Amino acid sequence: MGPVDALMLEAKRLFHGRGQGLNYNIDLIPPYILIDSFEDIDEAALEKIISELPECEGIFYRNRKSREPFRALRGSIPETHHLIENSLRYEINLKDNQNIGFFMDMKPGRELISQLSKDKKVLNLFSYTCSFSVAAMNAGALKVTNIDMKKSFLKVGQKNHQLNGLEKNVQFLSYDIMKSLSGITKKGPWDLIIIDPPSHQKSFHLESAYPKLLKKVDSWLSEKGMVLACLNSPFLDSGFLLEHAPGWEVSKVLYSAEEFKEIDPEKGLKIVLFTRAES
Ligand SMILES: C[S@@+](CC[C@H](N)C(=O)[O-])C[C@H]1O[C@@H](n2cnc3c(N)ncnc32)[C@H](O)[C@@H]1O
Repeated sequence: MGPVDALMLEAKRLFHGRGQGLNYNIDLIPPYILIDSFEDIDEAALEKIISELPECEGIFYRNRKSREPFRALRGSIPETHHLIENSLRYEINLKDNQNIGFFMDMKPGRELISQLSKDKKVLNLFSYTCSFSVAAMNAGALKVTNIDMKKSFLKVGQKNHQLNGLEKNVQFLSYDIMKSLSGITKKGPWDLIIIDPPSHQKSFHLESAYPKLLKKVDSWLSEKGMVLACLNSPFLDSGFLLEHAPGWEVSKVLYSAEEFKEIDPEKGLKIVLFTRAES
């Protein structure tokens, strides 16, 4: 690989192991490179990987299997850091042993939301650190309602809006979505609803809760409303969403960003855009 262009600030995946049968990924989050592994990599193998990386200010390694946080192999880990995607800025957490607070593979979803959000009222379900909301407000959404059960994630979400000067007309609600369906109903309707639930959390059992939620979401949509439904499970394909959609039409099916390509895309991230069927 050649040297990193000093002017190139956008984050990107340099190596996607899962797409090639290997158990680690490498991300460039300028000016740092992160090696994120799902199994232990010994020091000699790490040095070999490092020898092929472009020049940068720091190289950090994390072994998720042993739940270790990142450690610096070169340079030092900063207290706070930001990632840039499509010129928007997001705070990331390099101290966490599982997630940095931003899912880079969802870039095509955020880009689609940017294309659709102008003058729309948007509901962002399972908002996490609100990256969809930042993209929607930047594209001219009228307002966004973010809902996530974890207050700490919403706080980062709030910061992400502030970092981009997009905090006006954005709401943050820390609700358990499945326990708050009627409370959410009272706040609607919305023109664009994003559903991006967790894949393996007890708080949302995909097989049973997703069909129930899709049905409810139908009653939260404005007349020409659209739904972006995401699914990131190797055990359920996009057919699961189509089967449980309450009479909506499929407008688009997208997968992870190009550099995150899976051998079988249906085993990775699925992003389905639905529109209300014409009556
Ligand atoms: C896959 S992440 C969402 C990623 C986010 N859409 C993004 O683009 O960065 C799943 C989120 O769902 C939240 N969550 C899980 N179960 C929930 C529930 N029952 N109600 C509300 N939020 C929930 C978690 O706290 C987590 O932030």
